[in-house]
Amino acid sequence: MTTTSGPGVLAKFIAHRGASGNAPENTLAAMKLAAEHGARCVEIDVSISRDGVPFVHHDDNLDRCTTGTGLLCEQDAAQLDQLDASKLMPEFSPEPLPRLSALIGLLDSLNLGLNLEIKPRSGLEAPTVDAICDVLDQLWPERLPLVFSSFNQKSLQLAQTRSPSIARALLIGGLPKDWQAQMIQFDCCNLHAHEARLDEQTVDTIKATDVGLYAYTVNDPERATTLLNWGVDGVFTDHPQQMLKYQLA
Ligand code: G3P
Ligand code: MG
Repeated sequence: MTTTSGPGVLAKFIAHRGASGNAPENTLAAMKLAAEHGARCVEIDVSISRDGVPFVHHDDNLDRCTTGTGLLCEQDAAQLDQLDASKLMPEFSPEPLPRLSALIGLLDSLNLGLNLEIKPRSGLEAPTVDAICDVLDQLWPERLPLVFSSFNQKSLQLAQTRSPSIARALLIGGLPKDWQAQMIQFDCCNLHAHEARLDEQTVDTIKATDVGLYAYTVNDPERATTLLNWGVDGVFTDHPQQMLKYQLA
């Protein structure tokens, strides 16, 4: 089990973009539902507005998930505050596009740990990491697990310098040949890998080192069980309720 506290430790099931199978991804509603469904940790994606305010959103572009259009990084926070982020599940409307600060307040009240994926618009790595770390410095409750991850190596490096005490995860698709060198370079304690790129031998190789291993995104309970039996520490899922029920059955 990986539910004790410590650097890099998240949970066996992490609600991916919140309980995004049943509520609009990366919204406050998805975080509330994750907690109702028994999750202990959530994963979110964060980037910044034109005026440097961190918002919780997956895509560079606003069109898929919100009533807005164009690039998130080209609009000011006050404009983004007017958007409805329930476009994928309009029955939840109105649902704000959340500022990171609002979402942290909610996680605190729900007692949920966090994997914050840094998703900067290319070229905005430094202001994105700075703005995120400023918010976390002010608001993150130290009692809860917190891990940064990013596909973007520059972001990991900036986070390492700016907030070295926040645990970091190397976020990858398949396992690169130089994964151990990268883990050392950014002083990462976790590896977050695409579930389809993991087999038993790869998991054995990784877990032979002292690394936390988490797999994304797993929505089939049998696949989750296989991965966990191989030694994966936890899985990201859009359906935490389904996973937890299956484990208890
Ligand atoms: O952090 C795991 C997973 O969220 C990475 O991919 O595209 O869903 O953000 P993506
Ligand atoms: Mg993500």
